[in-house]
Amino acid sequence: MWDYTGKVLDHFRNPRNVGTIPDADGVGEVGSLACGDALKLTFKLGPDGRIADARFQTFGCASAIASSSALTEMIKGMSLEEAAKVTNQDIAAFLGGLPEQKMHCSVMGKEALEVAIENY
Ligand code: FES
Repeated sequence: MWDYTGKVLDHFRNPRNVGTIPDADGVGEVGSLACGDALKLTFKLGPDGRIADARFQTFGCASAIASSSALTEMIKGMSLEEAAKVTNQDIAAFLGGLPEQKMHCSVMGKEALEVAIENY
């Protein structure tokens, strides 16, 4: 198995914010050319214009699930401008690091967020 941090394993085994928001303000769906995995991210803004809720569905590997779970936790409470600046390195750092070969898995979440913000 890959050398995952405890935080990656925790977010993989107990992913936060799984699902989709039915009346979402933004929806982003992306696929990875590298591995064929796919990810859908939805968010809902609160009255203050900040992200009040974010949920994801990932058809992918452990790193993709952990990265999406981490991302939804990270962006809650952010404005769309702040959320747009989150990089996949930020996601990996939040998780205590990802194996180099699995960094592309964290890119999908970031891309889905970009699409969801564009879609807003
Ligand atoms: Fe596909 Fe990780 S191997 S997202």
